[in-house]
Amino acid sequence: SRAGRLVVVSNRVATPRQIATGGLASAMRAALSERGGLWFGWSGKIAEKAELHHRHEGGIDYATLDLTRADHDDYYAGFANRALWPLFHYRPDLVDYRRSHLEGYLRVNRLFAERLAAMLRPDDTVWVHDYHLIPLAAMLRGLGVRNRIGFFLHIPLPAAELLITLPRHRELIGALAAYDLVGLHTARDLRALETYFLHELGGALRPGGLLRAPDGRTFRAGVFPIGIDTAAVAQAAREAAALPEIQQFKDSLQGRALIIGVDRLDYSKGLPQRFEAYAQLLEREPALQRQVSFLQIAPPSRGAVPEYRRLRHELERSAGHINGKYATPDWAPIRYVNQSFPHAVLSGYYRTARVGLVTPLRDGMNLVAKEYVACQDPRDPGVLVLSRFAGAAQELDGALLVNPADTTEVAEALARALAMPLQERRKRWRAMMDVLERHDLGSWLDAFLDALYATHPARAGQR
Ligand code: UDP
Ligand code: G6P
Repeated sequence: SRAGRLVVVSNRVATPRQIATGGLASAMRAALSERGGLWFGWSGKIAEKAELHHRHEGGIDYATLDLTRADHDDYYAGFANRALWPLFHYRPDLVDYRRSHLEGYLRVNRLFAERLAAMLRPDDTVWVHDYHLIPLAAMLRGLGVRNRIGFFLHIPLPAAELLITLPRHRELIGALAAYDLVGLHTARDLRALETYFLHELGGALRPGGLLRAPDGRTFRAGVFPIGIDTAAVAQAAREAAALPEIQQFKDSLQGRALIIGVDRLDYSKGLPQRFEAYAQLLEREPALQRQVSFLQIAPPSRGAVPEYRRLRHELERSAGHINGKYATPDWAPIRYVNQSFPHAVLSGYYRTARVGLVTPLRDGMNLVAKEYVACQDPRDPGVLVLSRFAGAAQELDGALLVNPADTTEVAEALARALAMPLQERRKRWRAMMDVLERHDLGSWLDAFLDALYATHPARAGQR
């Protein structure tokens, strides 16, 4: 049964008034505001001591914890974003592992577990999100918590060959067994988890998606591709046409075809390669010069991590270089914007764009790809150019799928998208929209929670 509260735990928490740049926070806010419940996580603030703040807003109870400077640096800017994030996005070359970071990661997970355990009621169901909090359930179990606990990983789970490069990976990945259910975006992620448990941990696979750790603990793992609130997003896009900033923006295009990219400024998003592909397009199709405009929205992210600061400089150079080379006094090829926008405005930009350019080198799902499709005008829809290495490519086969590292292939796909006849655009869009309507955010929530409630709680004799 579904009695009891839903308690969501994630590092990043979004209140109704913030712009949530990041798939997890924007999805969970939409989810929780519908059914209510408690959302526990980092306050986003650094303070002298780890104080807990409570507030109620938009139908959600928030409990957020400040982090000390050391905890923030070791746990968030350290192990989570300098070891786990690059490794899980297939970038072992960018991993900067330090033992002090791992210790900070375990310390903050223990702190989260202690604070959360004190707030839990016996009939609460706990849902933990993402790579910051992998060991949380194991620590909660250690404190005697018997509640149902689910986990969802919003980023890719890499192949076992990569996982084993992580120091103390057995302890860390093995800790997933303390959950009742582990959810992943794609079948590839699930395969990676099963292979790891089988061949690296010496566990076993049981029928029905059941995995067994060597110590006998069993848990369920399944594929739950996250969706968007398709109807609401489409509605917002229809309404955005009336916003003054969208009107002004359209005027500024002067009838040029718009290509749009929207990404946190992150090396997983393939932005330098994307800029390069766009430059190749201008080079091979000079007739397109002055006829197209590329808007890249890229709000800065994780500036405490050196790799992100380097990327920011690289993109500034690249955008400046391309604009300098191809611009004319009345036209600039790239509009590069380091700002974030609320969904209401973003949906107007998406709808204005003839091409949605989504080319991550790796991405768990990529919600921007789905939002772009949902925002299109059914009578005159744009074309999605999508990386095969985004989880979304498993569902959106109406897109032009590309290898983002092959900039020539991306340039060709752009040319094809810009020239695509209306009939083909409609057909491809309809196929994708059908998927987004059938599998929206609500159905993702139901599927995961149904599976979680179907697990056996607090297995006696196990922890
Ligand atoms: N987003 C936003 N404003 C911005 C940029 C991004 O609201 O200026 C949102 C975007 O609409 C999407 C999320 O941030 O819902 C990004 O999720 P995605 O899965 O594409 O990538 P992530 O940032 O999680 O890696
Ligand atoms: C991705 C991750 C989220 C994270 C978000 C924004 O979506 O899966 O866990 O919250 O990026 O990153 P940030 O570091 O600002 O929370």
